[in-house]
Amino acid sequence: MATTMDELLEGLNHDLAAEYQAVITYQLFASLSTGPFRNEIREFFQKEVPDEIAHAEFLADKIVALGGTPATEPLPVKLTRDNREMFEIALEAEAEAIQRYEKRVRQADELGLTGLKVQLEDLIVDETNHKEEMEKILQNWKE
Ligand SMILES: [Fe+2]
Ligand SMILES: [Fe+2]
Repeated sequence: MATTMDELLEGLNHDLAAEYQAVITYQLFASLSTGPFRNEIREFFQKEVPDEIAHAEFLADKIVALGGTPATEPLPVKLTRDNREMFEIALEAEAEAIQRYEKRVRQADELGLTGLKVQLEDLIVDETNHKEEMEKILQNWKE
């Protein structure tokens, strides 16, 4: 069944809620990190925040341009005080983001929205970089 504009807008609003979730999650992981590597972990998560804000801004602008109303609530935020679990939560979220944007690319393509499709592919590039950074950190975590 072909994608409708309403379905695309619903998907983009889910993506927007997930980007809000990422902003809050990474900001709070920066605050919650402890131990001898607190400064590095804090800095790592703080550096992710502007990327996720830029994604949210892009999605909100696009939703309005397509005639929709942007979501105002984040997806539920999962917190932990365990440094390693922070990266596990973040890795899962980044992997899910890639899958969602891959679906959104297909929907945009079906609707003939080539500009949106290409921009969503750029988001996939960003989230893939984020995911790979989380993987590298977790790979050699001895504890
Ligand atoms: Fe993002
Ligand atoms: Fe990300």
